[in-house]
Amino acid sequence: MSGPLVLGIESSCDETGVGIVRGRQLLTNTVSSSMDEHVRFGGVVPEVASRAHVQAIGPAIVAACDEAGVELSELDAIAVTAGPGLSGALMVGVGAAKGLAAALDLPLYGVNHLAAHVAVDLVADDIERLTTPTIALLVSGGHTEILRIGDIVDDIELLGATIDDAAGEAFDKTARLLGLSYPGGPNVSKAALGLLDGTGIPGDRQAVRFPRGLAKKSDLRDPDRRYSFSFSGLKTAALREVTKAETLGTDLRVADIAAGFEDAVVDVLVTKTLLAAADTGIDHVVLGGGVAANAHLRDVLATRCAEAGVTLRVPPLALCTDNGAMVAALGAELVSRGAAPSDLGLAAVSSLD
Ligand code: KG4
Ligand code: ZN
Repeated sequence: MSGPLVLGIESSCDETGVGIVRGRQLLTNTVSSSMDEHVRFGGVVPEVASRAHVQAIGPAIVAACDEAGVELSELDAIAVTAGPGLSGALMVGVGAAKGLAAALDLPLYGVNHLAAHVAVDLVADDIERLTTPTIALLVSGGHTEILRIGDIVDDIELLGATIDDAAGEAFDKTARLLGLSYPGGPNVSKAALGLLDGTGIPGDRQAVRFPRGLAKKSDLRDPDRRYSFSFSGLKTAALREVTKAETLGTDLRVADIAAGFEDAVVDVLVTKTLLAAADTGIDHVVLGGGVAANAHLRDVLATRCAEAGVTLRVPPLALCTDNGAMVAALGAELVSRGAAPSDLGLAAVSSLD
């Protein structure tokens, strides 16, 4: 395999990722996370994340080159997440990328984090290349978006996003209410399966009916809300159930609350993704982001895509969470297509979309 040798840096949230690709071949993908430092706060603390990136970025670049057997002098380009993300966190990666590009006299490519999440499929080892057009559902602790991807470089349309909490954030906040530790997503899933109360009996997804944010008929008719999400009401609903159960002394299980909550999140994510596919006439969906690890989401999405005649693609989970390979993959695509590089004044833009 050939193609440009590109090093990609990702630092938009709590993962410091450095990946190296040669064209569409993934050579290495090193990720270090500051998640452990955020646990006691129940969520990512921007200052803590930035400081951790500063400590991790240098060793991560060296480690990635070692693992890939690549000298810095062999690289053809440097790519970096320019946004969206946490400003202070992004600045660490962008600063490092600029330093490398300037010192090595290489072109620098600032890329969009969301596009990179989709572009990662270009370097997954089990397919030839990313299928387009596709609808992308990106769900993590920091973002929840539906995108229409006509072309990974120059035809990306944001169809809708969350207007409040990201899906993963809703999992994390609800987990905290249920007394489960951060990151909440995996623990809520385990609780829903009855794996945390020692019973092994899955929660009843119907025991508590959680609200489906922005999914009423009137919302779906409104072009501004049709593909948008709202998850902030879910934690209030969970709190109400917990309080009610405590006050009344009912035997409602945490498993039931977790299962009902999970089902509500998954239901709107899947419903709106399939609406986007139907509306655009696109029969392909790709899933990305850390919440892609949720088995209920993958199951329901797979079932409903199959019913709708839509092909579902879930890249390997290690490539779904934030990483440098996705940035390198998009960078290599830009280089291959002769795209103009960014200049050394490249800014980190927290709200870039
Ligand atoms: O993509 P990611 O690793 O980092 C960013 O947020 O960018 O995603 C982490 C998020 C957290 O909110 C975590 O609770 C959620 O993904 N998550 C899950 C599961 N595993 C991770 N949410 C639901 N179910 C899971 N199994
Ligand atoms: Zn992400």
